[in-house]
Amino acid sequence: MRQSLVVANWKMNGSLSENQSLLNNVKQGFSTVQHAEVAVCVPFVYIQQVSDLLKGSVIAWGGQNMSQQTSGAFTGETSANMLVDFGCKYVIVGHSERRNLYAESDLLVAEKFAQAQSAGLIPILCVGESLIQREAGETENVVQRQLSAVINLQGVASLAQSVIAYEPVWAIGTGKSATSQQAQDVHAFIRGQVSDARVAEHLQILYGGSVKGSNAAELFAMPDIDGGLIGGASLKVNEFLSICQAAR
Ligand code: 13P
Repeated sequence: MRQSLVVANWKMNGSLSENQSLLNNVKQGFSTVQHAEVAVCVPFVYIQQVSDLLKGSVIAWGGQNMSQQTSGAFTGETSANMLVDFGCKYVIVGHSERRNLYAESDLLVAEKFAQAQSAGLIPILCVGESLIQREAGETENVVQRQLSAVINLQGVASLAQSVIAYEPVWAIGTGKSATSQQAQDVHAFIRGQVSDARVAEHLQILYGGSVKGSNAAELFAMPDIDGGLIGGASLKVNEFLSICQAAR
């Protein structure tokens, strides 16, 4: 049985006062969450604040991106060790917004994945196709290419200390989630790509893309969907809590 995981991706949202009120309210309502492990991935500048607010709670925190480099002359970058310094457990790598808006290649994402693991972080590797790719029947090819960049660099065993998030680009921020069956099909495909059966069986595969309180239970009921990566709805206390409550 895999542990369910729900991860908030705040993206570039929040402020000191909003974060404080959001997390205090989430903590207050958290006793209603029974099954999910929960984490919030926040902008770098708020990691200290979030760690102060969440220390001693069961909610973990992490970054939304990081450098593939260890340290040195890389102006504006943040290293995996810096995230570890601030108590991060997770880091998102290869989000489609980074792949598309900041031209992150499959290889770069794989290098970030490797760097995260060597610092002791659990990378949440995002994969997913665009609408054009889906309509062209390319979904499996795209996801396989994104996944194999990591497997080729790090080996299949490395997936045991990672989380995969399937996020179809056309479902992100659009209000139009994949159906539970569409998501399940890709999740099963991803699991099937992991050639080590034990690693495959234990791998947490999250779904992301317009998850809300109203559709979370149906998505999370699917056999290969182990939780969610939540954008917009993670900024609303009640929505986020009801998604966490929906976890198996
Ligand atoms: P939304 O939940 O806002 O669609 O965003 C999903 C996402 O990109 C999470 O990483």
